[in-house]
Amino acid sequence: MILVTGGAGFIGSNFVLGWLAHHDEPVINLDALTYAGNLRNLSSLQGDTRHRFVRGDITDRALVDGLLAEHRPRAIVHFAAESHVDRSIHGPLAFIKTNVDGTYTLLEAARAFWQALPADEKAGFRFHHVSTDEVYGSLRPGDPAFTESHPYEPNSPYSASKAASDHLVRAWHHTYGLPVVTTNCSNNYGPYHFPEKLIPLMIVNALAGKPLPVYGDGQQIRDWLYVTDHCSAIRAVLARGRLGETYNIGGWNEKPNIEIVHTICALLDELRPHAEGSYQRLVTYVADRPGHDRRYAIDARKIERELGWRPAETFETGIRKTVQWYLDHADWVADVQSGGYREWVDRNYAQR
Ligand code: NAD
Ligand code: TYD
Repeated sequence: MILVTGGAGFIGSNFVLGWLAHHDEPVINLDALTYAGNLRNLSSLQGDTRHRFVRGDITDRALVDGLLAEHRPRAIVHFAAESHVDRSIHGPLAFIKTNVDGTYTLLEAARAFWQALPADEKAGFRFHHVSTDEVYGSLRPGDPAFTESHPYEPNSPYSASKAASDHLVRAWHHTYGLPVVTTNCSNNYGPYHFPEKLIPLMIVNALAGKPLPVYGDGQQIRDWLYVTDHCSAIRAVLARGRLGETYNIGGWNEKPNIEIVHTICALLDELRPHAEGSYQRLVTYVADRPGHDRRYAIDARKIERELGWRPAETFETGIRKTVQWYLDHADWVADVQSGGYREWVDRNYAQR
Protein backbone atom coordinates (compact mmCIF):
# COMPACT_ATOMS: atom_id res chain seq x y z
CA MET A 1 0.00 0.00 0.00
CA ILE A 2 0.95 3.65 -0.23
CA LEU A 3 0.66 6.45 2.35
CA VAL A 4 -0.68 9.71 0.95
CA THR A 5 -0.52 12.93 2.98
CA GLY A 6 -2.99 15.73 2.28
CA GLY A 7 -5.30 13.40 0.36
CA ALA A 8 -8.45 15.35 1.28
CA GLY A 9 -7.21 18.54 -0.40
CA PHE A 10 -7.58 19.58 -4.02
CA ILE A 11 -4.76 17.68 -5.73
CA GLY A 12 -4.46 14.96 -3.08
CA SER A 13 -8.11 13.93 -3.40
CA ASN A 14 -7.87 13.89 -7.21
CA PHE A 15 -4.74 11.76 -6.81
CA VAL A 16 -6.39 9.26 -4.44
CA LEU A 17 -9.45 8.95 -6.71
CA GLY A 18 -7.21 8.50 -9.77
CA TRP A 19 -4.93 6.03 -7.99
CA LEU A 20 -7.78 3.76 -6.99
CA ALA A 21 -9.24 4.01 -10.49
CA HIS A 22 -5.91 2.78 -11.93
CA HIS A 23 -4.70 0.37 -9.19
CA ASP A 24 -6.04 -1.97 -6.57
CA GLU A 25 -3.20 -1.01 -4.25
CA PRO A 26 -4.69 0.40 -1.02
CA VAL A 27 -4.14 3.97 0.18
CA ILE A 28 -3.73 5.25 3.72
CA ASN A 29 -4.75 8.89 3.57
CA LEU A 30 -3.33 11.10 6.36
CA ASP A 31 -4.86 14.56 6.43
CA ALA A 32 -5.41 17.10 9.22
CA LEU A 33 -8.60 18.43 7.57
CA THR A 34 -7.63 22.09 7.75
CA TYR A 35 -10.01 24.54 6.04
CA ALA A 36 -8.66 23.13 2.72
CA GLY A 37 -9.31 19.47 3.48
CA ASN A 38 -12.74 18.13 2.63
CA LEU A 39 -13.90 14.54 3.02
CA ARG A 40 -16.73 15.22 0.58
CA ASN A 41 -14.07 15.10 -2.14
CA LEU A 42 -13.71 11.40 -1.32
CA SER A 43 -17.37 10.53 -0.79
CA SER A 44 -17.36 8.21 -3.84
CA LEU A 45 -14.93 5.98 -1.89
CA GLN A 46 -17.36 5.33 0.96
CA GLY A 47 -17.32 1.61 1.74
CA ASP A 48 -14.22 1.05 -0.44
CA THR A 49 -11.88 -1.01 1.73
CA ARG A 50 -8.87 0.05 -0.36
CA HIS A 51 -9.06 3.54 1.15
CA ARG A 52 -8.44 4.26 4.80
CA PHE A 53 -8.68 7.84 6.03
CA VAL A 54 -6.77 8.95 9.12
CA ARG A 55 -7.33 12.42 10.49
CA GLY A 56 -4.01 13.69 11.83
CA ASP A 57 -1.18 16.15 11.51
CA ILE A 58 2.06 15.43 9.64
CA THR A 59 3.97 17.20 12.41
CA ASP A 60 2.84 14.45 14.85
CA ARG A 61 5.84 12.12 14.79
CA ALA A 62 4.29 9.45 17.01
CA LEU A 63 1.24 9.26 14.75
CA VAL A 64 3.35 8.99 11.59
CA ASP A 65 5.62 6.35 13.18
CA GLY A 66 2.55 4.36 14.21
CA LEU A 67 1.03 4.49 10.71
CA LEU A 68 4.28 3.38 9.08
CA ALA A 69 4.74 0.51 11.57
CA GLU A 70 1.13 -0.65 11.23
CA HIS A 71 0.69 -0.40 7.44
CA ARG A 72 4.27 -0.77 6.13
CA PRO A 73 3.66 1.31 2.97
CA ARG A 74 6.01 0.87 0.01
CA ALA A 75 5.80 4.60 -0.71
CA ILE A 76 4.84 7.95 0.78
CA VAL A 77 3.33 10.52 -1.57
CA HIS A 78 3.50 13.83 0.24
CA PHE A 79 0.92 16.48 -0.74
CA ALA A 80 0.01 17.93 2.68
CA ALA A 81 0.80 21.63 2.79
CA GLU A 82 -0.53 25.08 3.33
CA SER A 83 -0.90 26.08 -0.30
CA HIS A 84 -2.33 29.58 -0.75
CA VAL A 85 0.07 32.48 -1.39
CA ASP A 86 -2.35 35.18 -0.14
CA ARG A 87 -2.88 33.30 3.14
CA SER A 88 0.90 32.97 3.51
CA ILE A 89 1.17 36.76 3.31
CA HIS A 90 -1.44 37.24 6.03
CA GLY A 91 -0.10 34.45 8.29
CA PRO A 92 3.18 32.74 7.40
CA LEU A 93 3.56 30.66 10.58
CA ALA A 94 1.21 27.86 9.53
CA PHE A 95 3.27 27.53 6.34
CA ILE A 96 6.50 27.09 8.28
CA LYS A 97 4.87 24.57 10.61
CA THR A 98 3.27 22.34 8.00
CA ASN A 99 5.48 22.81 4.96
CA VAL A 100 8.84 22.89 6.74
CA ASP A 101 8.37 21.18 10.14
CA GLY A 102 5.82 18.76 8.71
CA THR A 103 8.07 17.69 5.84
CA TYR A 104 10.99 17.35 8.27
CA THR A 105 8.88 15.14 10.55
CA LEU A 106 7.82 12.93 7.64
CA LEU A 107 11.40 12.63 6.40
CA GLU A 108 12.67 11.59 9.81
CA ALA A 109 9.86 9.07 10.29
CA ALA A 110 10.40 7.72 6.77
CA ARG A 111 14.14 7.44 7.35
CA ALA A 112 13.74 5.44 10.56
CA PHE A 113 11.17 3.16 8.92
CA TRP A 114 13.15 2.70 5.70
CA GLN A 115 16.44 1.98 7.46
CA ALA A 116 14.88 -0.93 9.33
CA LEU A 117 13.33 -2.54 6.22
CA PRO A 118 14.65 -5.82 4.80
CA ALA A 119 16.94 -5.26 1.77
CA ASP A 120 14.36 -6.01 -0.95
CA GLU A 121 11.69 -3.71 0.54
CA LYS A 122 14.32 -1.09 1.26
CA ALA A 123 15.35 -0.95 -2.39
CA GLY A 124 11.76 -0.45 -3.57
CA PHE A 125 10.75 2.22 -1.04
CA ARG A 126 9.98 5.76 -2.30
CA PHE A 127 9.38 9.16 -0.70
CA HIS A 128 7.67 11.30 -3.33
CA HIS A 129 7.65 14.99 -2.48
CA VAL A 130 5.04 17.07 -4.31
CA SER A 131 6.19 20.64 -4.87
CA THR A 132 5.61 23.70 -6.99
CA ASP A 133 7.23 25.77 -9.74
CA GLU A 134 6.93 28.81 -7.43
CA VAL A 135 10.22 27.83 -5.74
CA TYR A 136 12.04 29.09 -8.85
CA GLY A 137 10.76 32.65 -8.45
CA SER A 138 9.56 34.94 -11.21
CA LEU A 139 10.46 35.01 -14.92
CA ARG A 140 10.76 38.11 -17.11
CA PRO A 141 9.03 38.22 -20.50
CA GLY A 142 11.09 36.20 -22.97
CA ASP A 143 13.07 34.28 -20.31
CA PRO A 144 13.21 30.55 -21.01
CA ALA A 145 10.83 28.38 -18.95
CA PHE A 146 12.01 26.85 -15.65
CA THR A 147 14.13 23.72 -16.07
CA GLU A 148 15.03 21.47 -13.14
CA SER A 149 18.39 23.24 -12.80
CA HIS A 150 16.93 26.74 -12.52
CA PRO A 151 18.14 28.45 -9.31
CA TYR A 152 15.76 28.57 -6.36
CA GLU A 153 14.52 32.16 -5.88
CA PRO A 154 11.29 31.93 -3.85
CA ASN A 155 9.53 35.25 -3.26
CA SER A 156 6.49 34.55 -1.06
CA PRO A 157 6.27 32.95 2.38
CA TYR A 158 4.48 30.04 0.65
CA SER A 159 7.15 29.49 -1.99
CA ALA A 160 9.95 29.98 0.56
CA SER A 161 8.43 27.30 2.79
CA LYS A 162 8.06 24.92 -0.17
CA ALA A 163 11.66 25.68 -1.25
CA ALA A 164 12.81 24.84 2.28
CA SER A 165 10.94 21.54 2.14
CA ASP A 166 12.48 20.70 -1.25
CA HIS A 167 15.95 21.33 0.19
CA LEU A 168 15.24 19.08 3.16
CA VAL A 169 14.10 16.29 0.83
CA ARG A 170 17.23 16.69 -1.28
CA ALA A 171 19.47 16.64 1.81
CA TRP A 172 17.81 13.51 3.25
CA HIS A 173 18.66 11.75 -0.02
CA HIS A 174 22.24 12.97 -0.25
CA THR A 175 23.08 12.56 3.42
CA TYR A 176 21.08 9.51 4.47
CA GLY A 177 20.37 7.86 1.12
CA LEU A 178 16.59 8.08 1.59
CA PRO A 179 15.08 7.11 -1.80
CA VAL A 180 13.29 10.31 -2.77
CA VAL A 181 11.82 11.85 -5.91
CA THR A 182 10.54 15.45 -6.12
CA THR A 183 8.12 16.93 -8.61
CA ASN A 184 7.69 20.68 -9.19
CA CYS A 185 4.41 21.39 -10.92
CA SER A 186 2.82 24.49 -12.40
CA ASN A 187 -0.61 25.88 -11.38
CA ASN A 188 -3.30 23.20 -11.29
CA TYR A 189 -7.02 23.62 -11.91
CA GLY A 190 -10.00 21.28 -12.04
CA PRO A 191 -12.60 19.61 -9.79
CA TYR A 192 -12.46 20.08 -5.98
CA HIS A 193 -10.30 23.22 -6.25
CA PHE A 194 -10.96 25.37 -3.19
CA PRO A 195 -12.59 28.66 -4.28
CA GLU A 196 -9.86 30.86 -2.79
CA LYS A 197 -7.64 30.25 -5.86
CA LEU A 198 -8.01 32.18 -9.12
CA ILE A 199 -10.01 29.83 -11.34
CA PRO A 200 -12.60 28.46 -8.88
CA LEU A 201 -12.94 31.89 -7.21
CA MET A 202 -13.81 33.51 -10.54
CA ILE A 203 -16.35 30.80 -11.42
CA VAL A 204 -18.01 30.87 -8.01
CA ASN A 205 -18.08 34.67 -7.77
CA ALA A 206 -19.48 35.03 -11.30
CA LEU A 207 -22.30 32.60 -10.54
CA ALA A 208 -23.08 34.54 -7.37
CA GLY A 209 -23.07 37.87 -9.26
CA LYS A 210 -20.09 39.10 -7.22
CA PRO A 211 -17.08 41.12 -8.48
CA LEU A 212 -14.26 39.20 -10.19
CA PRO A 213 -11.20 40.64 -8.39
CA VAL A 214 -8.22 40.87 -10.75
CA TYR A 215 -5.00 41.76 -8.89
CA GLY A 216 -2.94 44.64 -10.33
CA ASP A 217 -2.99 44.83 -14.13
CA GLY A 218 -4.04 41.18 -14.61
CA GLN A 219 -1.02 40.59 -16.88
CA GLN A 220 0.71 38.14 -14.53
CA ILE A 221 1.30 34.84 -16.28
CA ARG A 222 0.77 31.35 -14.87
CA ASP A 223 1.28 28.00 -16.63
CA TRP A 224 -1.89 25.95 -16.17
CA LEU A 225 -2.25 22.16 -15.92
CA TYR A 226 -5.46 20.18 -15.49
CA VAL A 227 -5.24 18.38 -12.15
CA THR A 228 -5.66 14.82 -13.46
CA ASP A 229 -2.63 15.41 -15.71
CA HIS A 230 -0.60 16.34 -12.63
CA CYS A 231 -1.81 13.11 -11.00
CA SER A 232 -0.81 10.97 -13.99
CA ALA A 233 2.63 12.61 -13.95
CA ILE A 234 3.05 11.76 -10.26
CA ARG A 235 2.10 8.13 -10.96
CA ALA A 236 4.72 8.03 -13.74
CA VAL A 237 7.47 9.53 -11.55
CA LEU A 238 6.61 7.27 -8.63
CA ALA A 239 6.76 4.21 -10.89
CA ARG A 240 9.74 5.06 -13.09
CA GLY A 241 11.43 8.27 -11.89
CA ARG A 242 15.13 8.11 -11.13
CA LEU A 243 16.03 8.28 -7.44
CA GLY A 244 17.10 11.64 -6.09
CA GLU A 245 15.91 13.40 -9.26
CA THR A 246 13.47 16.24 -9.62
CA TYR A 247 10.95 16.43 -12.46
CA ASN A 248 9.16 19.59 -13.58
CA ILE A 249 5.54 19.05 -14.56
CA GLY A 250 3.61 21.46 -16.76
CA GLY A 251 1.26 21.70 -19.67
CA TRP A 252 2.91 24.39 -21.84
CA ASN A 253 -0.12 26.61 -21.17
CA GLU A 254 1.10 30.07 -20.24
CA LYS A 255 -1.79 32.50 -19.87
CA PRO A 256 -2.14 36.00 -18.39
CA ASN A 257 -4.67 36.08 -15.54
CA ILE A 258 -7.00 38.46 -17.35
CA GLU A 259 -7.23 36.01 -20.27
CA ILE A 260 -8.22 33.24 -17.84
CA VAL A 261 -10.95 35.46 -16.40
CA HIS A 262 -12.24 36.34 -19.89
CA THR A 263 -12.28 32.65 -20.87
CA ILE A 264 -14.27 31.74 -17.76
CA CYS A 265 -16.76 34.55 -18.46
CA ALA A 266 -17.17 33.42 -22.08
CA LEU A 267 -17.80 29.80 -21.02
CA LEU A 268 -20.35 30.90 -18.43
CA ASP A 269 -22.03 33.18 -20.99
CA GLU A 270 -22.45 30.06 -23.13
CA LEU A 271 -23.35 27.51 -20.44
CA ARG A 272 -25.30 29.67 -17.94
CA PRO A 273 -26.24 32.94 -19.70
CA HIS A 274 -27.30 35.75 -17.38
CA ALA A 275 -30.23 38.08 -18.02
CA GLU A 276 -28.10 41.17 -17.25
CA GLY A 277 -25.58 40.31 -19.98
CA SER A 278 -22.03 38.98 -20.07
CA TYR A 279 -20.25 38.03 -16.86
CA GLN A 280 -17.43 40.31 -18.08
CA ARG A 281 -19.37 43.17 -16.45
CA LEU A 282 -18.24 41.80 -13.07
CA VAL A 283 -14.47 42.10 -13.78
CA THR A 284 -12.98 44.46 -11.16
CA TYR A 285 -9.33 45.49 -10.92
CA VAL A 286 -8.15 45.54 -7.29
CA ALA A 287 -4.88 46.27 -5.43
CA ASP A 288 -2.04 43.97 -6.37
CA ARG A 289 -0.65 41.16 -4.20
CA PRO A 290 2.54 42.27 -2.37
CA GLY A 291 5.62 40.74 -3.99
CA HIS A 292 3.46 39.32 -6.79
CA ASP A 293 5.46 37.01 -9.10
CA ARG A 294 5.05 38.18 -12.68
CA ARG A 295 5.47 35.00 -14.65
CA TYR A 296 5.87 31.24 -14.17
CA ALA A 297 6.54 28.79 -17.00
CA ILE A 298 7.56 25.14 -16.82
CA ASP A 299 9.89 23.38 -19.21
CA ALA A 300 8.45 19.86 -19.07
CA ARG A 301 10.85 18.22 -21.51
CA LYS A 302 12.68 16.07 -18.93
CA ILE A 303 9.60 14.15 -17.78
CA GLU A 304 8.49 13.71 -21.38
CA ARG A 305 11.92 12.51 -22.53
CA GLU A 306 12.65 10.18 -19.61
CA LEU A 307 9.19 8.90 -18.71
CA GLY A 308 7.12 9.53 -21.83
CA TRP A 309 4.61 11.63 -19.85
CA ARG A 310 2.43 14.17 -21.64
CA PRO A 311 -0.75 15.93 -20.53
CA ALA A 312 -4.01 14.49 -21.85
CA GLU A 313 -5.95 17.77 -21.66
CA THR A 314 -5.42 21.04 -23.50
CA PHE A 315 -6.30 24.24 -21.66
CA GLU A 316 -9.45 24.53 -23.78
CA THR A 317 -10.75 21.04 -22.87
CA GLY A 318 -9.68 21.33 -19.22
CA ILE A 319 -11.21 24.73 -18.52
CA ARG A 320 -14.51 23.71 -20.14
CA LYS A 321 -14.65 20.57 -17.96
CA THR A 322 -13.81 22.65 -14.91
CA VAL A 323 -16.51 25.27 -15.47
CA GLN A 324 -19.03 22.49 -16.13
CA TRP A 325 -17.94 20.69 -12.92
CA TYR A 326 -18.61 23.80 -10.81
CA LEU A 327 -21.99 24.27 -12.52
CA ASP A 328 -22.85 20.65 -11.66
CA HIS A 329 -21.57 20.81 -8.06
CA ALA A 330 -23.25 23.83 -6.49
CA ASP A 331 -23.80 21.71 -3.35
CA TRP A 332 -20.03 21.12 -2.98
CA VAL A 333 -19.39 24.86 -3.32
CA ALA A 334 -22.07 25.74 -0.77
CA ASP A 335 -20.54 23.22 1.63
CA VAL A 336 -17.02 24.67 1.51
CA GLN A 337 -18.28 28.24 1.80
CA SER A 338 -18.43 27.91 5.56
CA GLY A 339 -18.18 30.68 8.14
CA GLY A 340 -14.38 30.40 8.17
CA TYR A 341 -14.24 30.86 4.42
CA ARG A 342 -16.40 33.99 4.57
CA GLU A 343 -14.04 35.49 7.18
CA TRP A 344 -11.12 34.91 4.79
CA VAL A 345 -12.92 36.68 1.95
CA ASP A 346 -13.58 39.67 4.21
CA ARG A 347 -9.94 39.82 5.32
CA ASN A 348 -8.36 39.42 1.87
CA TYR A 349 -10.65 41.56 -0.24
CA ALA A 350 -12.09 44.23 2.12
CA GLN A 351 -8.93 46.39 1.99
CA ARG A 352 -8.23 46.03 -1.73
P1 NAD B 1 -4.78 22.14 -0.66
O1 NAD B 1 -4.54 23.34 0.19
O2 NAD B 1 -6.02 22.05 -1.48
O3 NAD B 1 -4.73 20.81 0.23
C1 NAD B 1 -3.79 20.62 1.23
C2 NAD B 1 -4.25 19.44 2.08
O4 NAD B 1 -3.25 19.23 3.10
C3 NAD B 1 -5.57 19.67 2.78
O5 NAD B 1 -6.40 18.54 2.68
C4 NAD B 1 -5.18 19.92 4.24
O6 NAD B 1 -6.16 19.50 5.17
C5 NAD B 1 -3.92 19.08 4.34
N1 NAD B 1 -3.01 19.57 5.40
C6 NAD B 1 -2.60 20.85 5.61
N2 NAD B 1 -1.80 20.91 6.69
C7 NAD B 1 -1.68 19.63 7.15
C8 NAD B 1 -0.96 19.04 8.22
N3 NAD B 1 -0.20 19.78 9.05
N4 NAD B 1 -1.05 17.70 8.40
C9 NAD B 1 -1.82 16.94 7.57
N5 NAD B 1 -2.52 17.45 6.54
C10 NAD B 1 -2.45 18.77 6.33
O7 NAD B 1 -3.48 22.04 -1.58
P2 NAD B 1 -3.32 21.48 -3.06
O8 NAD B 1 -3.56 22.59 -4.02
O9 NAD B 1 -4.07 20.23 -3.19
O10 NAD B 1 -1.75 21.20 -3.08
C11 NAD B 1 -1.23 19.92 -2.69
C12 NAD B 1 0.27 19.94 -2.85
O11 NAD B 1 0.62 20.25 -4.19
C13 NAD B 1 0.96 21.01 -1.98
O12 NAD B 1 2.15 20.45 -1.46
C14 NAD B 1 1.26 22.13 -2.95
O13 NAD B 1 2.39 22.87 -2.55
C15 NAD B 1 1.52 21.36 -4.23
N6 NAD B 1 1.24 22.07 -5.48
C16 NAD B 1 0.04 22.70 -5.66
C17 NAD B 1 -0.22 23.33 -6.87
C18 NAD B 1 -1.54 24.00 -7.15
O14 NAD B 1 -1.71 24.64 -8.20
N7 NAD B 1 -2.55 23.87 -6.28
C19 NAD B 1 0.75 23.34 -7.89
C20 NAD B 1 1.97 22.69 -7.65
C21 NAD B 1 2.20 22.05 -6.44
P1 TYD C 1 -3.58 31.68 -7.21
O1 TYD C 1 -4.70 30.85 -7.75
O2 TYD C 1 -3.67 32.19 -5.81
O3 TYD C 1 -2.25 30.84 -7.46
P2 TYD C 1 -0.68 31.30 -7.31
O4 TYD C 1 -0.60 32.61 -6.66
O5 TYD C 1 -0.15 30.19 -6.45
O6 TYD C 1 -0.15 31.29 -8.71
O7 TYD C 1 -3.40 32.93 -8.16
C1 TYD C 1 -3.15 32.76 -9.55
C2 TYD C 1 -2.95 34.13 -10.14
O8 TYD C 1 -4.17 34.86 -10.06
C3 TYD C 1 -1.93 34.97 -9.38
O9 TYD C 1 -1.18 35.75 -10.32
C4 TYD C 1 -2.77 35.88 -8.51
C5 TYD C 1 -4.02 36.08 -9.32
N1 TYD C 1 -5.28 36.29 -8.55
C6 TYD C 1 -6.10 37.40 -8.84
O10 TYD C 1 -5.81 38.21 -9.75
N2 TYD C 1 -7.25 37.56 -8.11
C7 TYD C 1 -7.60 36.71 -7.10
O11 TYD C 1 -8.65 36.94 -6.43
C8 TYD C 1 -6.77 35.57 -6.82
C9 TYD C 1 -7.11 34.60 -5.73
C10 TYD C 1 -5.61 35.40 -7.58
